[in-house]
Amino acid sequence: MIDLAQIFSLTDVDTHWPTLREWKDSKMARYIGVTVSEPRRHTDLEAFLKRERPDTIQVNYSITERESEDRVIPLAADRGVAVIINRPFMNGAYFKRLEGRPLPPWATEFGATTWAQFSLKYILSNPRVTVVLTETSNPKHMAENAQAALGPLPDENARKRMREFIATV
Ligand SMILES: NC(=O)c1ccc[n+]([C@@H]2O[C@H](COP(=O)([O-])OP(=O)(O)OC[C@H]3O[C@@H](n4cnc5c(N)ncnc54)[C@H](OP(=O)(O)O)[C@@H]3O)[C@@H](O)[C@H]2O)c1
Repeated sequence: MIDLAQIFSLTDVDTHWPTLREWKDSKMARYIGVTVSEPRRHTDLEAFLKRERPDTIQVNYSITERESEDRVIPLAADRGVAVIINRPFMNGAYFKRLEGRPLPPWATEFGATTWAQFSLKYILSNPRVTVVLTETSNPKHMAENAQAALGPLPDENARKRMREFIATV
């Protein structure tokens, strides 16, 4: 059984969705869902969520890319759909944007000791998020990223402070 079958970037979704539904009905797939990774596809994702019942959606979201925060993620959560996050570091562009900048000292209040953990803890502290994917070729980065799941998370005041800070960068 496939744990999770996803339609990549909603590609030809009307053709593939019935196939995934069949896979789920025949127990070939445990969960089925769709992905997007660009804000211009969020409208299509919202429309899909309104007409179908996926188990999961995958969408881009991070401290620096928050378009999905107000509509897509709440809509999925309201419909009981698990939310998988991609692009937590904007595929690496996040680190270039912050290059040479020290982490604000107050980040340690919610256990973030690196810029990677700063973004991951912002994502994970959204109660509607189920899981966040990160991509790395470096085992040290993998360990650093996994650490973000441990210890405290920012509360609503800290999340606001993070957004205000990142707007100045
Ligand atoms: N449409 C879709 O379905 C879609 C689209 C995009 C992505 N995704 C999925 O999303 C997941 C994440 O990929 P992404 O594209 O969103 O990439 P990402 O995780 O936002 O960024 C990956 C980049 O960040 C760097 N990085 C990772 N951890 C780091 C750390 N602790 N410190 C410094 N640099 C670090 C990596 O370089 P190093 O190798 O040097 O660590 C790599 O260049 C993947 O599973 C991908 O398949 C899905």
